Amino acid sequence: MTLIESVSAQEVLDSRGNPTVEVHVELDGGWEGQAIVPSGASTGIHEAVELRDGDPKRYGGKGVLTAVANVTDVIAPEVIGMDALDQVALDRRLCELDGTENKSRLGANAILGVSLASARAACEATGLPLYRYLGGVGAVTLPVPQLNVLNGGAHAQTSVDFQEFMFLPWGMPTFAEALRAGSECFQALRAVLRGRGLHTGQGDEGGFAPSLTRNEEAVELLVEAIARAGYTHAQVAIGLDPAPSALLKDGRYVLKGEGRELTSAELVDLWESWLDRYPIVSLEDGMAEEDWDGWQLLTRRLGERVQLVGDDNFVTNPKLLQKGIDLGVANAVLIKLNQIGTLTEAMETVALGRAHGYNPVVSHRSGETEDTFIADFVVAINGGQLKDGAPSRSERVAKYNRLLRIERELGGAAVFAGRAALPRASAPAATGAR
Ligand code: PGA
Ligand code: ZN
Repeated sequence: MTLIESVSAQEVLDSRGNPTVEVHVELDGGWEGQAIVPSGASTGIHEAVELRDGDPKRYGGKGVLTAVANVTDVIAPEVIGMDALDQVALDRRLCELDGTENKSRLGANAILGVSLASARAACEATGLPLYRYLGGVGAVTLPVPQLNVLNGGAHAQTSVDFQEFMFLPWGMPTFAEALRAGSECFQALRAVLRGRGLHTGQGDEGGFAPSLTRNEEAVELLVEAIARAGYTHAQVAIGLDPAPSALLKDGRYVLKGEGRELTSAELVDLWESWLDRYPIVSLEDGMAEEDWDGWQLLTRRLGERVQLVGDDNFVTNPKLLQKGIDLGVANAVLIKLNQIGTLTEAMETVALGRAHGYNPVVSHRSGETEDTFIADFVVAINGGQLKDGAPSRSERVAKYNRLLRIERELGGAAVFAGRAALPRASAPAATGAR
């Protein structure tokens, strides 16, 4: 009853208006599952390959008809008849069919679409909610949301060099209250920006995208918004993802908006001075993906007092995460399903991180869709943190709303991850500015 009977796919649009892959899987028992694959803009160089047609006559070369054809013509005949309940076997088969290290033959977008749509179909067959199907009876943890409310870098066309400035409503009692706090701070930020005559247009992840003269001003604006909304830093703290891989040129971090360049050591100094003065509890990609020395320095200097999340350097890949663990780099790992390309491999990366004290932070991409798989996924792994953009724009809000429904459905069994999700920043020594 749970054997894969058909696999189909089509080209649909993501939140930036670019094409992406949607996959539909049907089982012989009649159950169906569907998934849409997201897409990044500031991608890591070692990410699994997102296959694009490159035909300039369609979508500026960004069409995904080749990936769609790979699903229907190459993958489908090979997975029809497989049991959708055996996710590991399916994902292994998908990797074998591709046969490359980085899924460049069939495309990670084609492969992930099949992996997730099949998981959904199997879930339908069990009659369970997706978080319970994936995570079992122990899947009860609602994540601290990382709400990206001020967008710069590759996600906005402004003078702000650093990519993401986030609210982390970590000290609230429930997910619903955390989301309320995040949303109220977001609205307060709009008022703060208006009050200063700054733009309130929005970037790719729904955060505001004002032009500022200094990157630090963005943090000051967030601090002001938290106060204006009436929250303490023990309730709402700040997270950053500067995405500096895009800033590194000839060994220097070029802050174009500020007209200055920093060495790795100077960038670590900058983060330290910000940690001393602002309630920053999470720093993702404090260093560029290839600056392993800088990453080591950063981790030695600040790893005891703040969450250091590896994104571009690890790209959800167990081998790269293992390298980071061996080198003593970072202390948490970002999990983006399309960076690696199958559900099973993403879960392996989560397990590897956990075995070495690296908490997972599940994440959306800047190009998102109405698909809410990651909301169920983060609960399934009791992940504790979900990075999902601003509480604005439906492709972001869809995930937050799904989490509200899961929290309600779990009732008394629901646990909000809260401050315990960020153990390093929770230590009294780290509470500096609060
Ligand atoms: P991306 O960026 O989805 O555009 O790659 C998100 C991030 O860097 O975390
Ligand atoms: Zn990132």
